[in-house]
Amino acid sequence: MPVSRILVIDDEPSVTDALQLVLSDLGHRVDCAKTGAEAKALLKGAPYDLVFTDLRLPDASGIDLLALIKADTPDTEVIVMTAHGSLDIAIEAIKRGAFYYIEKPFAPHQVTALVERALQFEAIKRENRSLKSALRGEGDEFGLIGRHPKMQQIHNIIRTAAPSDASVLIEGESGTGKELIAAAFHFQSPRADLPFTRINCAAIPHELIESELFGYRKGAFTGADRDKRGLIEATSGGTLLLDEIAEMPSHLQTKLLRVLQERKLRRLGDEQELSVDFRLVSSTNRDTAQMIRDGLLRNDLYFRISTIKVKSPPLRERLDDIPLLANRFLQLYSEKYKKRIREISTGAFALLMRYEWPGNVRELESVIEHAVLFATEDKLSPESLPEHLHHAQASEFRCVIPPYFTMEDIEREAIAQTLERTGGNIKRTAEILNYHRPRLYRKIKSFGLRGGNDTENQSET
Ligand SMILES: Nc1ncnc2c1ncn2[C@@H]1O[C@H](COP(=O)(O)OP(=O)(O)OP(=O)(O)O)[C@@H](O)[C@H]1O
Ligand SMILES: [Mg+2]
Repeated sequence: MPVSRILVIDDEPSVTDALQLVLSDLGHRVDCAKTGAEAKALLKGAPYDLVFTDLRLPDASGIDLLALIKADTPDTEVIVMTAHGSLDIAIEAIKRGAFYYIEKPFAPHQVTALVERALQFEAIKRENRSLKSALRGEGDEFGLIGRHPKMQQIHNIIRTAAPSDASVLIEGESGTGKELIAAAFHFQSPRADLPFTRINCAAIPHELIESELFGYRKGAFTGADRDKRGLIEATSGGTLLLDEIAEMPSHLQTKLLRVLQERKLRRLGDEQELSVDFRLVSSTNRDTAQMIRDGLLRNDLYFRISTIKVKSPPLRERLDDIPLLANRFLQLYSEKYKKRIREISTGAFALLMRYEWPGNVRELESVIEHAVLFATEDKLSPESLPEHLHHAQASEFRCVIPPYFTMEDIEREAIAQTLERTGGNIKRTAEILNYHRPRLYRKIKSFGLRGGNDTENQSET
């Protein structure tokens, strides 16, 4: 069992001590509270995986605490501890979301079994939710987040072409999700249960690519002290991802082309030919047209590997997706680091949208991870973002409006954000937005926004 955070709430020290002992022995981190107030204070911190609570506390009822926990952190499992003969209230607790109840006094083995089940249940629920959100296709089909038309088009290509055997070439800058796209082609195909192998042609020395891909017979070269299967063979029926294919030396390009045409290969130093079956997905972050012109990429190989072409767009071409990705990473890393950061402040968003993102999604992900790790508040503030984002000069001013926003939504947002920036100063807000104050008041009222703080000015209008 992985280490979990458990809270024990009971006013009897004998109970908290005993549970602390048993649960720490299982390797969990345990906090204890003697009163409802103490418990509430602890519950404001990082969420617990499991809570044991007595039903009757000096200053609170266990049922109320249960309701509070379930409203705030629905994934936290709660086990209520009851006195002998109070089954009714235990059942009531279960109806309200408790995982189970345990009758006092209890033996350690009862606790162990119950904890194991409750924690397993919690893990399953979490997994289930992430599967569900992946299935719902909230712009994140196949784990590929993005609602921009260019991303939607990629989703469509995957859906249509993944089941075929056609070769796929994915082009795009570093960190734009080429590998995720490649994986989607594999996992949405009938080959999904067969191997998905990958070789990065830029990361291994040229002289090794050949033996890695094609394999060798014992004695084929010095050091070949046994027969070895190559990756193509090992893919046996699955999908082979050739990462950075443009880095492949030209004599291997010729050899690969032959394998693709004949579906046969010969290991280094072998006489015999073997039949091979694999689907090829390649990726590159280079400009293939230029490489062909420069003679670095064989034209005939290029046509062979690019029956289906996918261009994964850089982040700067799909600014709308930044909030979507940033929020998903926020959720992911808050959970991972057990933090309760629920949102990204407007100021932080402004910085995220203005930056150029040379490292694309990978860079955005690491910026958010870093910010979550060091955040001390429940909102990601501009200060939690790295220095270089603050100094980024926008190459041009671009105001990105989320999809499906109406003019009314835009107006409401403009007023709300300006009010926030001016600290609720109506006079300043009206100046910035170029509104007469009576109009601004009307808008604030009709949008149900909280008014400004310069009420003394109100009489002037
Ligand atoms: N559309 C996306 N939705 C969610 N996560 C993404 C998306 N695109 C990229 N990522 C994440 O960004 C990181 C980089 O993605 P990936 O490795 O697929 O990029 P790449 O284009 O292959 O990069 P490189 O050229 O450096 O190999 C990964 O952690 C990946 O999960
Ligand atoms: Mg990659």
